[in-house]
Amino acid sequence: MQLKKILAVCVAVMFLVVMAGCGGGGSSSSSSGSSDHKGIKVGVSMPTKSLQRWNQDGANMEAKLKAEGYDVDLQFAENKIETQVSQIENMVTKGCKVIVVGAIDGGSLSSVLDEAKAAGCKVISYDRLIMNTDAVNYYATFDNYGVGKIQGQYIEEKLGLKEGKGPYNFEITTGPLDDNNVVFFFKGAMDVLQPYIDKGQLVIRSGQNTREQCATPNWDEAKAQERMDNILTTYYTDAKLDAVLCSNDSTSLGVQSALKSAGYSAGHMPIITGQDANLPNVKAIVNGEQSMSVFKDTRALADQVVKMVDAIVAGQEPEVNDTSSYNNGVKVVPSYLLQPQFVDKSNYKKLLIDSGYYKESDLQ
Ligand code: GAL
Repeated sequence: MQLKKILAVCVAVMFLVVMAGCGGGGSSSSSSGSSDHKGIKVGVSMPTKSLQRWNQDGANMEAKLKAEGYDVDLQFAENKIETQVSQIENMVTKGCKVIVVGAIDGGSLSSVLDEAKAAGCKVISYDRLIMNTDAVNYYATFDNYGVGKIQGQYIEEKLGLKEGKGPYNFEITTGPLDDNNVVFFFKGAMDVLQPYIDKGQLVIRSGQNTREQCATPNWDEAKAQERMDNILTTYYTDAKLDAVLCSNDSTSLGVQSALKSAGYSAGHMPIITGQDANLPNVKAIVNGEQSMSVFKDTRALADQVVKMVDAIVAGQEPEVNDTSSYNNGVKVVPSYLLQPQFVDKSNYKKLLIDSGYYKESDLQ
């Protein structure tokens, strides 16, 4: 089962690499790209290979940068902060002109980025904001508050909360405390849902309603499952759970496993949200185990970041569209926010298959 999952992910990632290479208008080899960029080194530091999206992000970035002629150093840090720090240090030593970082812990990179700054490297924060340093130059991400809002609104609509329906039993599972995105995901969703909790239309039997209480370290699926197992056996032996806000797809899968062991089955699951439209989750949506996910097209994010790199290398200011939302504790980091979209059974074909993000056969 696990092997099947991993194989499916590998096939999808290989497909994306090929697609990204084609999309760049040439092969993914550096020799076919713009000769202006020949010999310019760009580092790409991704947090982990253990989640599908980061494999796609890394593969997209590498292919698009190579197609532009850059010399790319792509590294994955397996969710170990020390590994990410030493990989970035290496990129600085090798003379990378720009380093793109998807941080594991946004608060742990200040000293290595000081080294990068001193060496004249520019740093782009990728998807997650790097905190507490002035050595981060730009940020490219999706509207993270919007992600949470889409999840909250989905629950609001599917339960008929605006129409006054309820009370419904509701629980929350979010991500790690060291990922700044989680602050936005949580706030976006709770701004929609809190009024219904206050009115008693949503009832949280566990009483766990803060970001700290609902956190999942490292976005770890098994930890999300364990926490939901405990909640179900403690608070739901005599009651049905109607909705679970899950901040992303890995936590959503953990919650689904806990629910299945407690006797819930496809078609009779609570409303369950997610984020990333990872393959196992899209399958779960098609099978009626997960209600929705938030689709963040990693191809579009990679395109935007490559544009930023090009501008930096050309000595120009990269395009940004938000200069107020993302204060990292030291400065507001100029950001480019892309728009996330909800995906469920009704639109997954159009969004994910017709757009070439996945092939129909990936979902078999
Ligand atoms: C977040 C990211 C999400 C999700 C999660 C787990 O920072 O924005 O898309 O992938 O991490 O990796």
